[in-house]
Amino acid sequence: MADATSVLHVSPVIPVVTIADPQHAVPVARALADGGVRIIELTLRTGSALESLKRIATEVPDILVGAGTILTPAQADAAAGAGAQFLVSPGVTPALLDHMLRLNIPVLPGVATVGEVMAVLERGLTAMKFFPAGPAGGPDYLAAIGAPIPQVRFCPTGGVSLDSAPSYLKLANVSCVGGSWLTPRAAVESNDWEQITRLAHDAAGLSRG
Ligand code: 3PG
Repeated sequence: MADATSVLHVSPVIPVVTIADPQHAVPVARALADGGVRIIELTLRTGSALESLKRIATEVPDILVGAGTILTPAQADAAAGAGAQFLVSPGVTPALLDHMLRLNIPVLPGVATVGEVMAVLERGLTAMKFFPAGPAGGPDYLAAIGAPIPQVRFCPTGGVSLDSAPSYLKLANVSCVGGSWLTPRAAVESNDWEQITRLAHDAAGLSRG
């Protein structure tokens, strides 16, 4: 149940969303869903992130909401308690992974090296976030990992855009990409939900190889 393979199949793009004001949480989620993107990785980077997570989980049932930027076991517990339907970490430590695996919800651990991929694979997970995708080596690097380790499916995130997404999505070991470009801070703060719906619509239209 901890494997996040099904999470990677919801949308070609997982929006990485940071919300400072919980009042924005539900409109942002609805704007994404209106554009055809029914998944959110809500980052725990603001003091009110758990409140935003709770609101989306209870008020927007047609969207799968997960918590991102999980760095500690305590954050994983708090996110699960707030209704997170999956957990995403930018990297992994043995202690954090052990803890997240006990929570019985899908876990998408961040990896950036072959050794990290192998360590997560040893724990029985085949779905991973490749982070930070651009700086860590981009599509060529992921394609190279696919030769010795073809069974892993990645969600490359970090420096990915609408323009660069296709170069990842065409790879056999990429199920979706992640990125913050669907919810620009200026659009969120000016309540420009139409812009977010347009960006989501474009992202939802990307094809996967
Ligand atoms: C993340 O946490 O996944 C990243 O901050 C998203 O990276 P991006 O802003 O380059 O899309």
